[in-house]
Amino acid sequence: MLSRAAKRAVLAARSCVLAAESSTSSLSSSSASISFFNRTIKTGASSTSSSSSQASSSNTNRGYAAGAALGSALSVAAVSTTFVASADEAEHGLHLPQYSWPHDGLFDAYDHASIRRGHQVYQQVCAACHSLNQICYRNLVDVAYTEQEVKTMAEEIEITDGPDDTGEMFERPGKLSDRLPSPYANEEGARYANNGAYPPDLSLITKARHDGINYVFALLLGYRDAPAGIEIRDGLYYNPYFPGGAIAMPKMLVDGGVEYDDGTIATETQMAKDVTTFLAWAAEPEHDDRKLMGAKWMFAMALLTVTAVYQKRYIWSQLKSRRVIVDAVR
Ligand code: HEC
Repeated sequence: MLSRAAKRAVLAARSCVLAAESSTSSLSSSSASISFFNRTIKTGASSTSSSSSQASSSNTNRGYAAGAALGSALSVAAVSTTFVASADEAEHGLHLPQYSWPHDGLFDAYDHASIRRGHQVYQQVCAACHSLNQICYRNLVDVAYTEQEVKTMAEEIEITDGPDDTGEMFERPGKLSDRLPSPYANEEGARYANNGAYPPDLSLITKARHDGINYVFALLLGYRDAPAGIEIRDGLYYNPYFPGGAIAMPKMLVDGGVEYDDGTIATETQMAKDVTTFLAWAAEPEHDDRKLMGAKWMFAMALLTVTAVYQKRYIWSQLKSRRVIVDAVR
């Protein structure tokens, strides 16, 4: 008879294999796991029969059966995760390289010079297709530009306002409270201009994608020639970081594509880093204040803890240093 533990182990192995099979069913390798599966069963069965005939060595055999079943379950799981991982990369995009961003640390603020340059990249390149409609001109004040600079920038655009006293809409120059202009009037217009693809609003893009900051950076620099055997339709571009590998956005950044006003040399990587920092700020403008506030609170709480401990010991010292003598005789 098969011991309970061994039975359970074989069952576990079986369900593991079944799970592996269902997750790799689209791959030709699933037949390999089935033959593996048969072998798993055989290993279990042969040691079972020997354990029933030789009672003396049954413990070792049981251990062997359980070990073998568990071992094969684990290796099947490992093999299947390898297949799932490669299927994953084609479907969900290549695994992202991790970079250390200047604002990563617990007490680190954004690199504001980089936000400023990133805004210039956004404005000169990305704004042709992408809106950033959660950001107003006033948000840039004291973050990347002075108030005067932002006012001048806002006045360069025309805003339709109104109605005026006669009921007519009118055009006026932009002001600090206006949002950054959108390139298209609506989603339909955006799709029409981009072969049916919709360039998403970038305000929250670093939050809307998994590991968004590294993703946007990798995506912008990820354009490659499609490898042999991969067909890319007209109007799409091969980019392994984009889920599915074919994106409707052409490669946008080329060396020298932007004029930086601080004289930084606009290499492709520099622009990608700056615009990613800018988008990270756009998605989380409160980031610096939040960290500063956190630091202040930690400091205040640490002070409070010290005083609270001192106070507690002070109050209890009366009781803790008292000696109570019970004199039962008198
Ligand atoms: C010529 C128009 C155009 C320009 C310019 C452009 N994009 Fe795009 N972008 C698109 C389109 C179209 C899509 C949608 C792609 C798709 O769904 O296949 C897109 C998608 C994206 C996405 C989202 C990818 C995803 O995971 O869904 C990001 C991020 C992005 N663009 C960033 C940028 C940045 C940063 C710039 C400026 C450096 C930029 N884009 C410039 C057209 C453009």
